[in-house]
Amino acid sequence: MSLLIKNGEIITADSRYVADIYCEGETITHIDRHLSAPAGTEVIDAQGKYVFPGFIDPHVHIHLPFMGTLAKDTYESGSRAALVGGTTTLIEMCCPARQDDALQSFEQWMNNAVGKSACDFSFHMGVTKFDDATAAQLREIVRRGISSFKIFLAYKGAFGIDDTELYRALKLARELGVVVTAHCENETLVAERCKELLAAGKTDPGQHHESRPPAVEAEGVHHLMTFAELTGAAVYIVHLSCREALDEAIAARQRGVRVGIETLIQYLTLDKSYAERPGFEGAKYVMSPPLRDVRNQEVLWHGLRDGLINTVATDHAPFDFAGQKPLGRDDFTKIPNGIPSLEERINLLYTYGVKRGRIDLHTFVNVASTAVAKQFDLFPRKGAIQPGADADLVVFDPNYRGNISVATQHMAVDYSAFEGWPIEGRASVVTVRGQVAARDGQFTGTLGRGRFLQRKPSHF
Ligand code: URP
Ligand code: ZN
Ligand code: ZN
Ligand code: ZN
Repeated sequence: MSLLIKNGEIITADSRYVADIYCEGETITHIDRHLSAPAGTEVIDAQGKYVFPGFIDPHVHIHLPFMGTLAKDTYESGSRAALVGGTTTLIEMCCPARQDDALQSFEQWMNNAVGKSACDFSFHMGVTKFDDATAAQLREIVRRGISSFKIFLAYKGAFGIDDTELYRALKLARELGVVVTAHCENETLVAERCKELLAAGKTDPGQHHESRPPAVEAEGVHHLMTFAELTGAAVYIVHLSCREALDEAIAARQRGVRVGIETLIQYLTLDKSYAERPGFEGAKYVMSPPLRDVRNQEVLWHGLRDGLINTVATDHAPFDFAGQKPLGRDDFTKIPNGIPSLEERINLLYTYGVKRGRIDLHTFVNVASTAVAKQFDLFPRKGAIQPGADADLVVFDPNYRGNISVATQHMAVDYSAFEGWPIEGRASVVTVRGQVAARDGQFTGTLGRGRFLQRKPSHF
């Protein structure tokens, strides 16, 4: 199996040039002008197109039992959607219930993916309780190729851990060189505010924001920063949504805390007025942390431009509008949280970031691929266009014009939060380790070919 991508403009996090890329088997082997290839090589003409390294989504939920229901995608639908949208690797959150065994859960999440996924994958291991038995299992999970944990400061009584557990989990992570990704919201404040709002008869989706305003997230970040500072652990804030939280993270970074910062495509493009839409329409836009006042969007774009914010993810968590969001029709606290977007992240980031002049092409590649690979121990196998790297490539057509619609999406959910939005550019060819897995909005890959990516801890 060999593949030659000719005449494309290669864009990486730090370079831009026209060249051909030759891939032998699963690997990039040569990059040069005017390469020729042996007979039988599949040749793709990328004239007038960009060639990016395969994009990596560092925060995805596929198997997610949550808020009394189950997220809609499987690895079959999720990996198809990812690939059509240019994402060749995803990192899923393995989120055991508190009473569940960590190692068994890890094996269960793995079984859901192996033999089914068309894209490559890894997991952040959710630490939803911490005791001696769990610590021993976490060591074993790290031996099996996981180099990041996930903890929740929110979701009291579900995924959330207490401060003793947090401290001990961070100490273990520090010892193992594992980075701890964290959902930062103060769960006590959320719980109390929810009770007050419901008691006042405020039950509609728009109240979700009032239950967890920016100060709640900023307190969560501050809290994590204190624990990271005292343990020396490397941490990574998932789905940062607002200025107040960013300020806390940057202040901590300035005093030496090792902290990566992720924002989401949803926070960059949507705002809280969507969740305030009448007739329960707002439920489509309920997630945590909530969509913020529109003023935060500029702060986040700026943060990406300045390198303060490191990555853009989706926190893909798909729940149907017809069958699942209505669990919270009379009580916003019961609306399953999540805004699906695994398929749309790259097209949205390109259209509303690069094309609108908010970020340049290198920042685009960096925050959606290269910096993710570096943060999570996948670089340079992933996130790079260089000999020796996996042949995960996105030939991107900047002249494509179209609109997002649920009618054409591959995600197994019954709505799009971006219905009708114009897109200016999309992936024209997507390869996973040398095999063409998507073409012009159609999946052409192989379910089950996706591989679990062993990662080695580096955050010592
Ligand atoms: O609303 C969200 N973010 N749903 C997914 C679970 C999480 O908190 O990441
Ligand atoms: Zn979260
Ligand atoms: Zn605190
Ligand atoms: Zn999440």
